[in-house]
Amino acid sequence: MSAIPQLQRLAGHIGSAVKLAPDAMAQEIKAALQEATLDATWLPAERRRASHENYARHLVYGDPDGRFSILSIVWDHGQKSPIHGHFCWCAVGVYQGRLTETYYRESPSGGPLVMIGTTARSPGRPSFEPAAAGIHCIANDSGAVAISLHVYGIGQESIAAGVNRILT
Ligand SMILES: [Fe+2]
Repeated sequence: MSAIPQLQRLAGHIGSAVKLAPDAMAQEIKAALQEATLDATWLPAERRRASHENYARHLVYGDPDGRFSILSIVWDHGQKSPIHGHFCWCAVGVYQGRLTETYYRESPSGGPLVMIGTTARSPGRPSFEPAAAGIHCIANDSGAVAISLHVYGIGQESIAAGVNRILT
């Protein structure tokens, strides 16, 4: 995997970005994802595989120093994430197709989550969220498979439990 030049460039760019101050880091990670998602040729077939049961998460790259991990998430049509926040920073870029992101906030009274907006996401507009910043849900309500690249500020050994704070 890491012999793929586009992936080497993406991982190298993010490896440099994580040494920067927070604002610059966010900008550089978005720039790295933008470049990597506008060339949708390099992700190997086994990292594009959908699962009929749920959206499929594939590890694409684990930083050897454990500073970040890159995943591809493959969304068959109709699949969606739970509503969740993140324990670590996270950046998302759509690699193929279209996704819908819906944002929520917690109710001060402890009542149900409040929906505050929705955005259509397509290649070329990556997003960055600091740790514990937002609550969202990602859904593929298009008619085709969609693929997104996710960068999480956590080592690959912690992905299963250390990324998402599930709210539904
Ligand atoms: Fe998320």
